Amino acid sequence: MAKVNADYLNLRGSYLFSEIAHRVKDYAEANPDKKIIRLGIGDVTLPIAPAMINALHTAVDEMAAKETFRGYAPDLGYEFLRNAIVENDYVKRGCDIKANEIFVSDGAKSDSGSIQEIFSKDNRIAVCDPVYPVYVDSNVMAGRVRNFDETLGKWKEVYYMPCTKENGFAPELPTEPVDIIYLCFPNNPTGTTITKTQLQEWVDYANKTGAVIIYDAAYEAYISESDVPHSIYECEGARTCAIELHSFSKNAGFTGLRLGYTVVPTDLEVEGVKLNGLWARRHGTKYNGAPYIVQRAGEAVYSAEGQAQIKEQIAYYMRNANYIATNLKDMGYEVFGGVNAPYIWLKTQDMTSWEFFDKLLKGAQVVGTPGVGFGPHGEGYFRLTAFGDYESTVTAMERIRNL
Ligand SMILES: Cc1ncc(COP(=O)(O)O)c(C=O)c1O
Repeated sequence: MAKVNADYLNLRGSYLFSEIAHRVKDYAEANPDKKIIRLGIGDVTLPIAPAMINALHTAVDEMAAKETFRGYAPDLGYEFLRNAIVENDYVKRGCDIKANEIFVSDGAKSDSGSIQEIFSKDNRIAVCDPVYPVYVDSNVMAGRVRNFDETLGKWKEVYYMPCTKENGFAPELPTEPVDIIYLCFPNNPTGTTITKTQLQEWVDYANKTGAVIIYDAAYEAYISESDVPHSIYECEGARTCAIELHSFSKNAGFTGLRLGYTVVPTDLEVEGVKLNGLWARRHGTKYNGAPYIVQRAGEAVYSAEGQAQIKEQIAYYMRNANYIATNLKDMGYEVFGGVNAPYIWLKTQDMTSWEFFDKLLKGAQVVGTPGVGFGPHGEGYFRLTAFGDYESTVTAMERIRNL
């Protein structure tokens, strides 16, 4: 008789987004005349820019002719894309990363969820609090994390690193042994970053203790300040302790196309085993590659035309971010993020995150995300995204101002 994977039964319901959807639905049904503005989800809204669309069209035509048709992609991804990644994302930044260390995938969500597979179940993970939920949930699914403490709202096996305004949203080095450290900068949900010097401390710590850092750089393209690293490999020694995750979702609007990549340096060894080889084996066994046409679109992101077009889109979203941050500050809110990331993280003053959610929904018809949904230390905070259109963003701020 078949049995289910009991580890999956330990998962908590995805309370956050279902609860938001539920409250928004109830409100919309009771107030059909009210126009709701959604600044809650992290999905882009601008269409894919012409350079990438042209590359897609060309690649689609290639698939229609016998001479140019492509079947299965190479395990690690096409060389044309891996070379473009190495050249643009690493060599230009002075980072020593080679094409055989790049694994092209369908995005950072799958890789951030799957990467834990190559580590022992005994490993203790460390995450920021608040955090992008995939890191923890994928470890629950794997059976590495099992016991949830209802009172604390935390998993007992996980080492949490609070990120609040008191520590500038910069996690502090663990005071207990940990093995796998998930870091994400620019951060979702707080929209904040750490400097290269701060990241170097993490790299040094990991090399000293034998921990591995999983560095999620999904929002790297939004960095505007010069002391914020775009890649962990800008830090000395990162090749022996860090894996890096990238996405084409937020920089080029590929949330629906699906493309990303993971970097596993050949110098990274755990118990004498090269993780590059393990991930290659896992990739080759469980994954048959991102579509050829999408990899061609990814290559176009690095063309001069593609770069100019995505910069324009990022500037559009960051104009929203700046508008939201400036206006909220002007209204007296304490505001964080929005400078190197498309997320604004604000203090809900004397309200809980959910009370603030209801106030914004009912009073201004604006939907955001309650910070507590990302972890206990998100309580008292609220996330707004800059991915809406400019006009709606302006209207949303006007409505909040009139609350
Ligand atoms: C921190 C972080 N990592 C990864 C992802 C997922 O990226 P992708 O669309 O490439 O799967 C997201 C998406 O919201 C994210 O916020």
